[in-house]
Amino acid sequence: MKSLLISIVVISSFAFTSHSQSAELKSSITRGEEIYTDFCVSCHLPNGKGVERVYPPLANSDYLKKNREASIKAIKYGLEGSITVNGKKYNSSMAPMGLSDDEVADVMNYITNSWGNKNDKMITEAEVSKIKK
Ligand code: HEC
Repeated sequence: MKSLLISIVVISSFAFTSHSQSAELKSSITRGEEIYTDFCVSCHLPNGKGVERVYPPLANSDYLKKNREASIKAIKYGLEGSITVNGKKYNSSMAPMGLSDDEVADVMNYITNSWGNKNDKMITEAEVSKIKK
């Protein structure tokens, strides 16, 4: 009986945390979509596919999938020099857009959960603030 009670408590608290995490993620993605529309869409386009050899794709981007920290850094501080995204080279630059850490987290949650991208590990403001130049 005691162990049954314990498992009920454990299971329901797990269900509660995962629910609040997903609600938090959902509202972050909604804010991120707005930031994307304001700051990113002109180059990476509404479908996230970018422009081949000019603006790299975010949709299905292996770079974004494999380089969580470098992607946050790129949005926070800008990115310059040669990178390869889905087998194509880009040697250009993206200027920093002056977003705050929570805005970087929101737009990261949006782009890593859009156009078929999927990221269960929510990006937080605290994670972004730890990433230095
Ligand atoms: C003026 C055009 C422009 C804007 C606006 C822009 N980017 Fe970029 N972005 C680029 C270019 C060009 C690169 C590749 C830079 C290089 O070659 O080093 C890039 C690279 C990236 C990358 C890493 C490569 C990849 O495809 O996964 C990410 C992630 C990214 N941008 C996200 C964003 C987000 C999020 C925003 C809005 C907050 C944004 N960008 C706004 C032009 C832009």
